[in-house]
Amino acid sequence: MPLINWRDDFEIGIEEIDHEHQELITLINEAHSALQAGADMPSVAAFFGEIYARISAHFALEESVMRRLRYAQTEAHKAEHEELLDGIRDIMDGYERGDYAQYQELLATHLETWFTDHFKNQDARLHRFIHDHEHI
Ligand SMILES: [Fe+2]
Ligand SMILES: [Fe+2]
Repeated sequence: MPLINWRDDFEIGIEEIDHEHQELITLINEAHSALQAGADMPSVAAFFGEIYARISAHFALEESVMRRLRYAQTEAHKAEHEELLDGIRDIMDGYERGDYAQYQELLATHLETWFTDHFKNQDARLHRFIHDHEHI
């Protein structure tokens, strides 16, 4: 079973961002099934690295859209992005220090909760703002 299921209400209405959200979910689900299938430490670490890099690039795109639209909640939205990146980095560090199973599980639940909440709150708010300002 996938860790995160795509839902239509995740859609922001900016094609590039929606596309990246879907790609991120696919990657996270792939990593999750690799973990469940007992992938070895180097492949799990590679998945974490890839997830981290792709999420950072995605956030940079979203933040540039927010700046372009002079979105008032850019700072609050950006702060959540930074919190997630810090959280992932901490989990990756923990994983590399040992106790693999615990950190694998931690990363999976952390990403699932964070994405679902962030999509529903910050990204959905950005979505509504873009809809109200479609003439921009
Ligand atoms: Fe976001
Ligand atoms: Fe996003």
